[in-house]
This record gives sequence, C-alpha cells and structure tokens, in this order.
Amino acid sequence: MSRALYAVTELGIADLLADGPVSSAELAAATGAHEPSLYRVLRMLAGLGVFGEARPGWFSLTVLGDRLRSGAPASMRSWALMHGRIAGRPFEHILYAVRTGQPGFDAAYGMPLFEYLAGHPEDAAVFDAAMLERTAAFAPSVAVGYDFSEARIVVDVGGGRGILLAEILRRNPHLQGTLLELPDVAAGAGAVLAEAGVTNRCEVVAGDFFDGVPAGADCYILANVLHDWDDARAAEILAGCHRAVTRHGRVLIVERLIPDDSAQAVPVLLSDINMLVLSPGGRSGRTPSTPRCCARPGCARARSAPSPSPTASSRACRAQDDRRAAAPVHDGDATLRLPRSIDR
Ligand SMILES: C[S@@+](CC[C@H](N)C(=O)[O-])C[C@H]1O[C@@H](n2cnc3c(N)ncnc32)[C@H](O)[C@@H]1O
Repeated sequence: MSRALYAVTELGIADLLADGPVSSAELAAATGAHEPSLYRVLRMLAGLGVFGEARPGWFSLTVLGDRLRSGAPASMRSWALMHGRIAGRPFEHILYAVRTGQPGFDAAYGMPLFEYLAGHPEDAAVFDAAMLERTAAFAPSVAVGYDFSEARIVVDVGGGRGILLAEILRRNPHLQGTLLELPDVAAGAGAVLAEAGVTNRCEVVAGDFFDGVPAGADCYILANVLHDWDDARAAEILAGCHRAVTRHGRVLIVERLIPDDSAQAVPVLLSDINMLVLSPGGRSGRTPSTPRCCARPGCARARSAPSPSPTASSRACRAQDDRRAAAPVHDGDATLRLPRSIDR
C-alpha cells in the first residue's frame, strides 16, 4: 500500500487532481505513465479511500488523498516520498530486524540512518522535508499548548530545520532560542527562521548532541529525537540536557505515547515499526519513566496528562532536584493542550 502511495505521489497525481476529477487516460498522458497500470493502482487506492472514482476511470481527491498534494494543509507528500525513496529498501529486511533486533536500515545501506544521510545530500533533503512537513502539523499545538511564560531561553535539541522552534519563538516574543543540529541540517535552518521573523532571537549551533548541548538555558526540547535511539543512547541525550539545564528549568519531550485502546493505537504502532526497521535501536511510545531510558536522578518521577486528541496523551516527569522534564506527546493531527502546572 505504501509503495502504491509512493508511486502516485512521485507522479504528482494529487496535484493534477487539485481542480477536480480527471480521467486515468489524462493522468497517464500528463505523467508519462502506462495508462492501464496507472488505472489499476488508482482503482486500488480509490478502494482504500485515497481517491474517489464517481465515474469509472475518473478520479478525484478525497480528504485523505488531498494530503498527498503539495502545499496542502497537513500534507503528507514529503512523508510518502521519504518512505518510497529511502525506507523501501530497509523494509525488505524486516525479517532480519525481527530475527536479530538490528535495524533493517543498516542491512540495506551498510550504515546507520543518520550516518547515511550525512553522506547522501539528496536523500537527506527528502528526509528533512518529511520531518519539516510532519513537525509543521503539530508545531502550533506545542507552541500554544505548552506554557512557556516562565522560560527565557529555549534550546531545541536535534531540532531539524527549526520549524518547531520558529513557531515557539514566533508565538512567545519574550523567548530567545538556540537550535542544535548536525551541520548539514543546521545549514538549512536559516530560511525557516527568517520566514518566521525570528532570526534575531535565535542562534543556530551545528554540533552533535552526544558531545553535549549548549548550557545555561531553562528549557530544552527533544521533539521526536529520543524515539530514534536505543535506551542507552536516549539516556545519554537526556543526561546531556539534564547537565545543561538551569536549576529550575525543564526538559520538554515531544513524542507519541501508545494509547491504551488498541484501535486508536494503530498509528503509533505503525510508527513504532518504522523505528524498528529504520532507526538505530529507537522505538515509539517510550516515555521518560521507561526503565533505563531515564533511570537517573533528576528524571525519575513521571506522570501523564491527557490531551484532547484520541490518539495522543502526555507525560511529565519531575526532577528530584527541581530541574524538571515535561513530555507532551503528539500525533500528526493532535491538538496538544497541557495544564500549566503539569508536573506540580
Ligand atoms: C526524527 S528527526 C526530528 C527533528 C525535529 N526535532 C522534528 O521534530 O521535526 C531527528 C533529528 O535529530 C538530528 N540528529 C540525529 N543525530 C544527531 C546528533 N548526533 N546530534 C544532533 N542532532 C542529531 C537529525 O538530524 C534529525 O533532524
């Protein structure tokens, strides 16, 4: 299914349907595709609700299919491209991943994900675009839903091209920000920060979070970062933030939890399989209280807080020495709302 979605996304079918129904013959002509084959893929995806087929052979966008259109609100276009161009080969090694516990990505490409991306700029651009697209969908809910009024300096650790930090700074004019990212990704942050009009309040630091994070801020954000790593590495990243944060500061973790209701849990469980196959030992649904992930002084007490989304919840952990970690958890569509005193 994901390969079929990838094929129609690569062909730009959703963009061609933006103004209304188009026949498979016209779509094939516009994309240089083999019409009978394209028709079969579109027909199958129509059966799944991605397209409408009100008249035989004429296809239109559904709400679901509209998310494959470039520039659509909450578009998943870059995500579909990322899955087709980068994640397809690793999934051929899912049996290896299940048998060994080692990432399918490494079996497919001979090296871990982030090492591969550092040496393959074209694929890195696809990956970063997917992250940016996904993060753009939940950034406003974090920027508005979390109470930053007591913070002064926010460091976004592994913050991608800065879409979340830009949104937080834009909506909280009293804040200064620092984006910490690997050099190649950090180099792409300038445009995002400039577009949000926050360049003068944000420093971009190119670096490796395993070497430490900029010290002295009162809020450290880890958005979809810990889920990329095994327990030991995740704990290392958290420990770095914990060493760096001011005495009354917080570490804010933005990640998905697995809802109790198994039907609602499916999106997160799918994401977890991505982690199993692609990431260096990461997983979705881990929380700061997961044993070994955060089993150290300062991050030991955690509790959850509800969010309005049926597929999201939140978890906060309070530091034993008053440095605090709060963890809102999102899914792509979730509106996140956190109590002001989540960890008190
Ligand atoms: C899953 S992405 C999440 C990006 C961003 N926080 C977001 O939510 O959109 C993980 C990010 O961690 C960054 N990263 C990976 N290893 C890193 C390291 N050793 N030091 C700094 N950043 C790193 C990657 O470049 C990537 O942008």
